[in-house]
Amino acid sequence: MLMWEYKAVFSLIIIDECHHTQKEAVYNNIMRRYLKQKRGNEKLRKLEKPTIPQPQILGLTASPGVGGARNHSKAEEHILKICANLDAYGITTVKEYDTQLNSQVKEPRKKFEIADDKKKDPFREELVNIMTKIQDYCQFNPNAEFGSQTYEQWVVQEEKKAAKEENRKHRVCAEHLKKYNDALLINDTIRMIDAYNHLKNFYKEEKSKESILQRLASIVEYENEKLKCLRATLMQEFTKKPEARGIIFTKTRQSAFALYQWIKENPKFEEAGVKTHYLIGAGHNSEFKPMTQNEQKEVIEKFRTGKINLLIATTVAEEGLDIPECNIVIRYGLVTNEIAMVQARGRARAEESTYVLVASGGSGAAEREDVNVFREKMMHKAIKRVQEMPREEYENKVRGFQLQSIMEVKMKAKKEQTKAYKENPSLIKFLCKNCTKLICSGEDIQVIENMHHVNVRKEFGDLYIKRENRTLQAKAADYQTNGEVICKDCGQVWGSMMVYKGLDLPCLKIKNFVVVFNDKKTTSNKMCKRWGELPIKFPAFCYPDNYVSSDEED
Ligand SMILES: *[C@@H]1O[C@H](CO)[C@@H](O)[C@H](O)[C@H]1NC(C)=O
Ligand SMILES: *[C@@H]1O[C@H](CO)[C@@H](O)[C@H](O)[C@H]1NC(C)=O
Ligand SMILES: *[C@@H]1O[C@H](CO)[C@@H](O)[C@H](O)[C@H]1NC(C)=O
Ligand SMILES: *[C@@H]1O[C@H](CO)[C@@H](O)[C@H](O)[C@H]1NC(C)=O
Ligand SMILES: [Zn+2]
Repeated sequence: MLMWEYKAVFSLIIIDECHHTQKEAVYNNIMRRYLKQKRGNEKLRKLEKPTIPQPQILGLTASPGVGGARNHSKAEEHILKICANLDAYGITTVKEYDTQLNSQVKEPRKKFEIADDKKKDPFREELVNIMTKIQDYCQFNPNAEFGSQTYEQWVVQEEKKAAKEENRKHRVCAEHLKKYNDALLINDTIRMIDAYNHLKNFYKEEKSKESILQRLASIVEYENEKLKCLRATLMQEFTKKPEARGIIFTKTRQSAFALYQWIKENPKFEEAGVKTHYLIGAGHNSEFKPMTQNEQKEVIEKFRTGKINLLIATTVAEEGLDIPECNIVIRYGLVTNEIAMVQARGRARAEESTYVLVASGGSGAAEREDVNVFREKMMHKAIKRVQEMPREEYENKVRGFQLQSIMEVKMKAKKEQTKAYKENPSLIKFLCKNCTKLICSGEDIQVIENMHHVNVRKEFGDLYIKRENRTLQAKAADYQTNGEVICKDCGQVWGSMMVYKGLDLPCLKIKNFVVVFNDKKTTSNKMCKRWGELPIKFPAFCYPDNYVSSDEED
């Protein structure tokens, strides 16, 4: 709320890379506050009260994307949702000077370098062999392929579980399996020797396995085919143009670092004039040590002045960072979405530049890149349709999505609340409506035939008095109601007694109580007409429990 209280200061918000204004992203949470205020203003206007001034919003992006859409109507919906989230009056693209812009902005030449991945891979075979043995030893049976992300998820779960159960054998096995799986993942992107070193650091004692792997790791014949493609591409570009400047995008920090080492250790690159450094994120969300922002700045500055001419970057460099134009942009086995593609390509704006995707044949990367190209086309069409949409239709749709966005937040909050109350019904308390004395909590309530809410706590009997009421008796004959339940302290009616399968139970009417909600964040009071208005459903009445606890038989 703070933000809008500085209304005198805030008159314009510029949201750069505004395609992030969706779902639970920070931008969207800011905009949701704005949208709520806008709704508030509509109400104030109806009451003819002064409204709260709101800032103007300017959103900028190279491409809003299509949000995973597979067809045109979904793409259009995505664009409209971004517009709604930004409360955009419309989308503006370059029109009048379109031709001039296109003549200025060079589209890079695009190439696919597809590596042959059908070759024999004894390194992998040996790793899989060891992993299978470990799995058998622990009778693990993962439903995932070796060297996949799914395997990683499985093994992390297994490690956690073993730690919790203090099962040392399983924990150690899981730990080892994770390292081997890492090695397979690394081998997939970089060199066997890097995968091997990763294991070696971890696994100093197991000499015999180590030596097989070490031997295999140093046989060049089995070297990663993608690296061969990468080497060829880099050599070609840097010898063709000595002043070339390039970026390689790769997925993980570890692979950025290993590629950097690979280039450093290969004198051919130096001869071709390649001066490289890695550029990785500053966040602490990875096992790999982050770069500080100052280190990032330093590297980018060196790249600007030409002291470095090849950056090896994780996705941090895709957007946000101010990086000079490049002649060559390589996506190394990394295909994400159409937005990232447009942005990575946008780095290749220098004269006669090249954009290359290096991937292995079996990875499906080339196909996904094609899908992204298709999505980019859909996006442009969708933008155009939104721009040409009749004003009224546009406004209606945007308004609809804005309401939806606000509702989604409410629903989510409610869901979380329901979950909290369901896990702990004692967070809901009931006070006598008249004297506000605390009567009971949600824990004490059970439901008979989906309808009658009875208090099953024995001590509850001390809080009320029964008073006969003949009218009542006639009304609810089914349950042989024989009296009203009234507050011992003030005489307020709370409900009525009911006789159910021989048990005498106090049945409560919610309208006679103040309901207090007391979750972690808030405390609020509410009066309800029906039990159904509460965010939780109470459990069905448990006859045996209550029968036994009433211990009248023996
Ligand atoms: C577009 O795709 C969505 C699901 O992604 C589907 O529900 C919808 O029917 C499709 N529309 C058309 C016109 O094919
Ligand atoms: C490991 O590298 C080899 C050599 O490039 C490759 O053929 C193989 O597919 C890689 N292994 C995995 C699990 O990707
Ligand atoms: C008895 O119950 C009826 C129905 O709830 C109510 O209208 C009436 O006031 C009650 N009578 C007394 C004496 O409380
Ligand atoms: C409410 O409480 C007051 C005393 O605190 C009592 O005099 C009054 O009768 C009560 N009202 C009802 C409806 O029970
Ligand atoms: Zn009372």
